[in-house]
Amino acid sequence: MANVTVIGAQWGDEGKGKIVDWLAERADVVVRFQGGHNAGHTLVVGNQTYKLSLLPSGIVRGTLSVIGNGVVLDPWHFRDEVAKLAGQGVTITPDNLHIAENCPLILPFHRDLDGLREDASEFKIGTTRRGIGPAYEDKVGRRAIRVCDLAHLDDLDPQIDRLCAHHDALRAGFDQPPIDRVRLKNDLAEIAPHILPYAKPVWHSLGEARRAGKRILFEGAQGMLLDVDHGTYPFVTSSNTVAGTASSGSGLGPGGVGFVLGIVKAYTTRVGSGPFPTEQDNEIGEFLGTRGHEFGVVTGRKRRCGWFDAVLVRQSAAVSGITGIALTKLDILDGLEEIKICVGYTLDGRHYDYLPPHAADQARVEPIYESVEGWSETTAGARSWAQLPAQAIKYIRRIEELIQCPVTLVSTSPQRDDTILVRDPFED
Ligand code: IMP
Repeated sequence: MANVTVIGAQWGDEGKGKIVDWLAERADVVVRFQGGHNAGHTLVVGNQTYKLSLLPSGIVRGTLSVIGNGVVLDPWHFRDEVAKLAGQGVTITPDNLHIAENCPLILPFHRDLDGLREDASEFKIGTTRRGIGPAYEDKVGRRAIRVCDLAHLDDLDPQIDRLCAHHDALRAGFDQPPIDRVRLKNDLAEIAPHILPYAKPVWHSLGEARRAGKRILFEGAQGMLLDVDHGTYPFVTSSNTVAGTASSGSGLGPGGVGFVLGIVKAYTTRVGSGPFPTEQDNEIGEFLGTRGHEFGVVTGRKRRCGWFDAVLVRQSAAVSGITGIALTKLDILDGLEEIKICVGYTLDGRHYDYLPPHAADQARVEPIYESVEGWSETTAGARSWAQLPAQAIKYIRRIEELIQCPVTLVSTSPQRDDTILVRDPFED
């Protein structure tokens, strides 16, 4: 398999940034295929820390980076993120960064609507307020303005009519004035030159790269449990985060997905609202959050923390067709006397080996825990199995068994070389 698709197998924030960066060094192309600037990928390279929300992680090393059609792109954020990275010495040009011409745009009123909904309702998803959901709604509603439209601003009026008809009605419901069409067109005209040089038929260049035997790395954002179909609906993001989206979100065809590497944290975290069966709203959760620095990269919000949930990860592995997992942040568990793993649920006397689909049931399931003895030694920085305490290896082996999926690599610190490699996904 020449290609690798990296996805989060929990609720996002599994530590994809480091793994993608590690793989990106040997990839020829890195592709984002879903989500938008709601993602938060932290890359530590030497003594520099890069925080990316939208750009593919390969860009930091100068690897050809592609934003696929499955992404929703905020052009103003794009301009600012490019400028921020340039300020850190990263060279970004249309030669090493391509954006799909058919990529839909996130516009200012999408962001407004996202925030208005979050503020107005009792029912909060806890979104990143970046306009992701409203932009995807316009995409499937066939109203979106896309990257290619920026080269056709004079033809945009009929589309703006349809967009305004939809959004002005929604805005009126929040006592907001109608969209200022003149300002919108001016803003688009002003931003277009910052985007258009990067616009390419990426399906075409990715097809060529594949035929030439290049290694393509697909970089997923968020996690499987936030998938709009398979996640904890409605407390999900608005895109498909499963591995199959690498194909539809880039235009490369299903055979191009390659080795599916699921990133799995050695415990569980979640930001935003919604069910979380193994959440520890107690000193254990505090310990994991403090030790693991569990704060959102994008919003700075404190992440909710809990025990490893093998039921959820087994489900993720199944629906995403995960070939192997990368286990991250094992060192955060160092020093715990007892570690718990969720191996099933009960609900109203019935046993479940999967998460039932209804949000109310998901909120009420009772986890069934198995206890594992912890270890007192440190695993931080380990680079071989021999450097891991026996109990830590036992924990990893038990996880493999429960999720029915092998461990491909173990990450033992944010530094890229602190990694134990079992199989090389690119060589598989
Ligand atoms: P949205 O993607 O901004 O619409 O937010 C929907 C849900 O996905 C919320 O619960 C967010 O907290 C969550 N979410 C979005 N992006 C990320 C991410 O990169 N990591 C973790 N959670 C995310």
